Amino acid sequence: MKVLVVGGGGREHALVWKIAQSPLVSRVYCAPGNPGIAAHAELVPLSVGEIESLADFALSVGIGLTVIGPEDPLSKGIVDTFQTRGLKVFGPRAAAAELEASKAFAKGIMSKYGIPTAAYAEFDNPAEAIAYVRKAGAPIVVKADGLAAGKGVTVAQSTDEAVAAIESMMRHKVFGEAGSKVVIEECLFGQEASILAFSDGERVLPMAPSQDHKPVFDGDAGPNTGGMGAYSPAPIVSDSMLDEITRTVLLPCVHGMAKEGRPYRGVLYAGLMMTAQGPKVIEFNCRFGDPETQVVLPRMKSDIVPLLQACSDGSLEGMAIEWGAGACVTVVMASGGYPGTYSKGIAIEGILEAERDAGAIVFHAGTKLEGTSLVTNGGRVLNVTAVGEDIPHAIAAAYEGVARIHFDGAHYRTDIGRKALNAGIR
Ligand code: AMP
Ligand code: GLY
Repeated sequence: MKVLVVGGGGREHALVWKIAQSPLVSRVYCAPGNPGIAAHAELVPLSVGEIESLADFALSVGIGLTVIGPEDPLSKGIVDTFQTRGLKVFGPRAAAAELEASKAFAKGIMSKYGIPTAAYAEFDNPAEAIAYVRKAGAPIVVKADGLAAGKGVTVAQSTDEAVAAIESMMRHKVFGEAGSKVVIEECLFGQEASILAFSDGERVLPMAPSQDHKPVFDGDAGPNTGGMGAYSPAPIVSDSMLDEITRTVLLPCVHGMAKEGRPYRGVLYAGLMMTAQGPKVIEFNCRFGDPETQVVLPRMKSDIVPLLQACSDGSLEGMAIEWGAGACVTVVMASGGYPGTYSKGIAIEGILEAERDAGAIVFHAGTKLEGTSLVTNGGRVLNVTAVGEDIPHAIAAAYEGVARIHFDGAHYRTDIGRKALNAGIR
């Protein structure tokens, strides 16, 4: 079977890397892909937004399964289009992807179906939103309703900060129409964990828990990013806790979406806060996490392709996933200045050495070829990933890989995975 992966970052590199190992797959294509992905797949020069052209391509070469990486094409209906054109595709339709595309919609589903989450209110009038935060006090969380590339959330430590966030989202439109409605939430406390789960519209099959590191600097300081590194497993989510999350979060969400006439097929990503009152949902995403995928898939021993097919066919029943015993860590190497402004086109060296001498797997997130040289092409540039017998070994191996790679201005967190050690569980 031929498989097409849509996207071109580190998540898609990990997906392509894993899919290419399947004995069911004769050839992998990736649109648009990146130079790292080109080692395992044929690149197709189409962007993720060119939905009709992607479907034309899939039909022309006889693609048997298309896997969608990012949220934007999902919320624009790429799955609906592919299905209408008779193509098998992995991911939710637009009506189901609204779980990520509208935070107000997601909160509505959670309150209707009793899924634990922060108390909230939604506003499309800035004066009312400001009056609400002045009354509620800080800390308080302000979220743009729509898609804002992971940047639409302010955890405000003072009411003035919350008011400023409302002003910039609703009056100055820093996120465009995504901020014309806001959700204001109670602030939750605890450690975060990410659960990615396969869903076929009725059943769920959770993957191994992981944890992202959103703030840019060590010790969770500085502004939020798309994610500076991740590890799996997340010791804070024990097997019994994962069962509880499946029972209280994943299944009620999938069953609720089915009742709403929006059957959820694909990966359901639950971002959770592990609070003193139990796990609560911070957000749902409608796709594989980035960089969580880069640490979950290297631990997956099962072939991923039958799982992807079962989600789109509605046949997950009786399926299971086999996991490797060890741990996986990925460290994001970012461009100087990220998550603010940064330059592109800076030469990258040492990937070969990181893979050959340190045993790392280097997933490309933002790279391109200029002639024959590999250069930076985004904020998050590389995901230096390593598997080890436990988290300390995986951390050491990932940083050995990082030490062999160089590009001017590169920065990365030096404490990825440390929270797992602090949890006292190895
Ligand atoms: P999101 O873009 O929804 O993933 O949110 C970004 C980050 O904001 C999350 O990873 C949390 O660290 C934080 N956050 C979001 N909602 C809350 C909340 N209700 N309480 C505390 N922190 C939150
Ligand atoms: N790692 C956060 C996300 O994928 O949204």
